[in-house]
Amino acid sequence: MRKGSLRLTRRAFLENSGLFLANVAVAQSVARKRVAIAPPLLKLDSLASFVDPLPIPKIIQPVRTVSLSDKTISTALPYYRLTMQEFEQKVHRDVKPVRVWGFDNSSPGPTFETRKGSGVRVEWVNQLPTRHLFPVDHSVHGAEADKPEVRTVVHLHGGKVPPASDGYPQDWYASGKSAVYHYPNQQDAAALWYHDHALGITRLNVYAGLFGLFLVRDDFEDGLDLPQGKYEIPLMLYDRSFDREGQLFYPVSGDPRSPWVSEVFGDGILVNGKLVPYLEVEPRFYRFRVLNAANGRFFHLALSNRASFYQIGTDLGLLARPVALESLLLAPGERADLLVDFSSHRGESLVLTTDSLRIMQFRVGQNAEGGKASLPPALREVARLSEGSAAKTRILTLGEKDAISGMAEMMLLNNAHWSMPISENPQLNSTEIWSLLNFTDDSHPIHLHGVRFQVLDRRSFEPELYYHGGTIHFIGAPVAPGPNEMGWKDTVQAHPGMVTRIIAKFDAYPGRFVWHCHILEHEDNEMMRPYEILES
Ligand code: C2O
Ligand code: CU
Ligand code: CU
Repeated sequence: MRKGSLRLTRRAFLENSGLFLANVAVAQSVARKRVAIAPPLLKLDSLASFVDPLPIPKIIQPVRTVSLSDKTISTALPYYRLTMQEFEQKVHRDVKPVRVWGFDNSSPGPTFETRKGSGVRVEWVNQLPTRHLFPVDHSVHGAEADKPEVRTVVHLHGGKVPPASDGYPQDWYASGKSAVYHYPNQQDAAALWYHDHALGITRLNVYAGLFGLFLVRDDFEDGLDLPQGKYEIPLMLYDRSFDREGQLFYPVSGDPRSPWVSEVFGDGILVNGKLVPYLEVEPRFYRFRVLNAANGRFFHLALSNRASFYQIGTDLGLLARPVALESLLLAPGERADLLVDFSSHRGESLVLTTDSLRIMQFRVGQNAEGGKASLPPALREVARLSEGSAAKTRILTLGEKDAISGMAEMMLLNNAHWSMPISENPQLNSTEIWSLLNFTDDSHPIHLHGVRFQVLDRRSFEPELYYHGGTIHFIGAPVAPGPNEMGWKDTVQAHPGMVTRIIAKFDAYPGRFVWHCHILEHEDNEMMRPYEILES
């Protein structure tokens, strides 16, 4: 235990000031973190903003179809092949090409357009070099020096997929190899995303650029007549640092035997591969599929002049109705489906910001060629899972193990390491409540594979008393999720000093999956656990 009284004081202050929820969520203190040693870096604030148009990743086409038949049916499945490679990419008009990793010469990789009920096969080919772009920490579990330095395995985040195709972190393969995964798409329309998940180096592989979007559509969503085509725009947000030569820079600790750092924030914000780009829009409604693809940065999204926007969907699909917002906090791994009405901003420029940083600019034109879509009053019914249906409640802690120096050494779920025996093993088709007790000073975006869940509530508690007596002493009343958090989720923000409760029905595929923090530095250094859905 450390700094207990200090934390209580700070929390008491925040509570009294009424700022508690607003502030803890964005608190990402750098105190006590492992010091990052930075060589001279490219000064990003000296670069011109809004000089590059927003790139839109291309839609990937299947290379062929394969037929799949069993006794009753035979279906033709689209077969895609994507190749992970190293290449150079322009991230800004005034920065020379940057060496990145991506799929089919694109980072982010191409976007998948798929439909509910129509499965696809994807061959993920690793043709990366054998040397990594960034220093590998061999003291991190699973990244020991006897492993190939470059290893990848692709996970479809939000996908309801059989375990063999889920991209289990130990299923990595080296350059020259590939894996064919099957994605059944037996799930509602949502914006999923694919990214690397190799044990111990996910943070480095994703930072290098190995991720992309995977859209699932369905008839219900089609019926809502939401903005589509050029009026539906993906926004993949992430931050990076660049060295003086303009190459990607990933920070290291002061200890060369253990370069891992506990969190990484770049001062350059990229959208779909460009630094602070612009997008020309018509004065009408647009749909933005927003993904926080950053390693550790929470985006606190707002439009300049506090123009409001509407959230119509969460990680795994549509909300029951649009929710008007002036700002939105999006954690790593989370997605938000947003509608923005530019019709009252003819001729203006709006800037999308995260606190004091600029993300991108919208230049609103004079004419709406495509007509003016409107806001649907109702979207998709989201049936709430009832607490009474839960067969089990699990108490799970989020913790940090510090070195004697006081700096973070690793992050732990329920005090267990990756390699310890499985402790979370829900029965297939059973419903469970997971209570996440956060003992650290950070918010952790907790993600479960293989299942969708709902957020029940969050409630402050006394960490010290839990340590001493093993029972939870709550402070104050539970806080219900906001209306824009009432949809289906796969990643939840677990705030410091709070118990965050989620409820899930484990009704997908039996077998072994993982759950973890989506701050990739945490995930790589023990804040990830296997779990198993047991066949009843
Ligand atoms: Cu977005 Cu386990 O991953
Ligand atoms: Cu996932
Ligand atoms: Cu974390």
